[in-house]
Amino acid sequence: MFVKHLIPVLAAIGSAAAQCKGTATINSQADADGIARSCKTYSGDIVIGKQTDSKIDISGISKITGDLTVLNNGQILDLTSSDLGEIGGTFTLQNLTLLTSLTLPSLEKVDTLLFQALPALATLTIGPPGITEAKSVTITDTFLESLAGINVQNVETLDVNNNRRLSDFSSSIKTVSKVLKVSANNREMTLTLPNLAWAANLEIANVTTFSVPSLAAVNGSARFDSNFFEKFSAPNLTKTDDDVSFVGNSKLAEIDFSSLTIIGGGLLIANNTALKEIKDFQKLKTVGGALKMRGNFTKIELPSLNDVKGAFDISSTTDIKDDCDVFQKLSRTGGGGQIQGTFKCESDNEKANEDTGSGTSGGGSSSDKKDSAAGVVFNTALFALSAFAGVSMLL
Ligand SMILES: *[C@@H]1O[C@H](CO)[C@@H](O)[C@H](O)[C@H]1NC(C)=O
Ligand SMILES: *[C@@H]1O[C@H](CO)[C@@H](O)[C@H](O)[C@H]1NC(C)=O
Ligand SMILES: *[C@@H]1O[C@H](CO)[C@@H](O)[C@H](O)[C@H]1NC(C)=O
Ligand SMILES: *[C@@H]1O[C@H](CO)[C@@H](O)[C@H](O)[C@H]1NC(C)=O
Ligand SMILES: *[C@@H]1O[C@H](CO)[C@@H](O)[C@H](O)[C@H]1NC(C)=O
Ligand SMILES: *[C@@H]1O[C@H](CO)[C@@H](O)[C@H](O)[C@H]1NC(C)=O
Repeated sequence: MFVKHLIPVLAAIGSAAAQCKGTATINSQADADGIARSCKTYSGDIVIGKQTDSKIDISGISKITGDLTVLNNGQILDLTSSDLGEIGGTFTLQNLTLLTSLTLPSLEKVDTLLFQALPALATLTIGPPGITEAKSVTITDTFLESLAGINVQNVETLDVNNNRRLSDFSSSIKTVSKVLKVSANNREMTLTLPNLAWAANLEIANVTTFSVPSLAAVNGSARFDSNFFEKFSAPNLTKTDDDVSFVGNSKLAEIDFSSLTIIGGGLLIANNTALKEIKDFQKLKTVGGALKMRGNFTKIELPSLNDVKGAFDISSTTDIKDDCDVFQKLSRTGGGGQIQGTFKCESDNEKANEDTGSGTSGGGSSSDKKDSAAGVVFNTALFALSAFAGVSMLL
């Protein structure tokens, strides 16, 4: 008797609990309401199907421990939740041709965010304060005009590319432990990162303004290709652990690296045809790879340079003989030997701007030919030897 009554009650509890875990698929507002009614926290993944009502409101759920995915849906116009604060997994919005409205005022924490192919999404309504915590943020191929609401501070990856209307991104981001990539957004793109202290890698292309006044270190490499800025300034940057390159920045007339002391990899500056003078590299002492410059230079000053582990390879369309004479004294054949790889410094080469590759040219030994201004050229054997010599001097 008693048992007979208990069984249906247990079953009911069991099925209600089951709705709050595993993978749930929402195809209609009724499905969303069903989950939202019983699950404040959803322990699992929620998938919004390919064919749904045009408006899906998942208010009521405040946390999803797994993923929230909306993929290949050509019907959804509006995705809303007034309560959703945290997504423990990946938040994917991908290939949603009609999505125009994304309203998530409470969302602050996501593990990974991927917004891709959202041709109708012009604005985000997230926060305040918005998404302040995320490991990885990728926003690509959207109609977004603004990334207001994306307020991450410390991320592994931030990748913003191919958002043709996006002309301004100002972020209070502080650290990037894998890569910060911004490319192919609006041609007028202004990228302002006043608090960025360090980034593992930087890949910046097609931006018009780039501001990183606090940037102190790049733990890997920094690439600036095909940008439209006239001046590049990283006045607080003291070191990079790997390569630095500037290629094809057509308006670039000035590079300010006034604190930069060590480039751990190679330095490549090529085909920036408006760049006539290299002068704000006053402190650059060490280049861990090759140093390669190609351009319309009239003046190249690197007054502190005293250790180039790879080749030194400069070629200008104009006459830089006086500067070449100064550098010659640092070469193996010219005296000092501060430049450990092959030495080449060339004036009046009409075709200087045509060589934008990272490889260095000019008859060196086969090991010198492997020198690359944007590749790893660290001569470990040599380094080990000099480190050993240093130690034995101390003994
Ligand atoms: C995008 O979604 C539509 C359905 O809306 C689908 O027909 C199309 O194949 C999807 N595109 C890709 C590249 O997956
Ligand atoms: C990058 O360099 C900065 C400054 O030297 C340091 O504080 C930070 O921990 C480094 N980050 C990584 C991921 O190595
Ligand atoms: C630049 O570095 C100096 C010295 O470390 C520091 O005092 C200053 O606040 C930094 N500037 C910015 C804008 O971070
Ligand atoms: C954007 O940058 C990429 C990478 O350097 C380059 O291939 C492309 O031509 C640039 N586009 C424009 C419009 O400058
Ligand atoms: C750079 O040099 C090339 C070759 O001399 C020349 O054709 C071009 O006009 C120069 N560009 C600028 C911006 O000075
Ligand atoms: C040099 O940069 C210009 C744009 O400023 C580009 O049109 C040209 O193709 C580049 N040359 C090479 C060899 O990359």
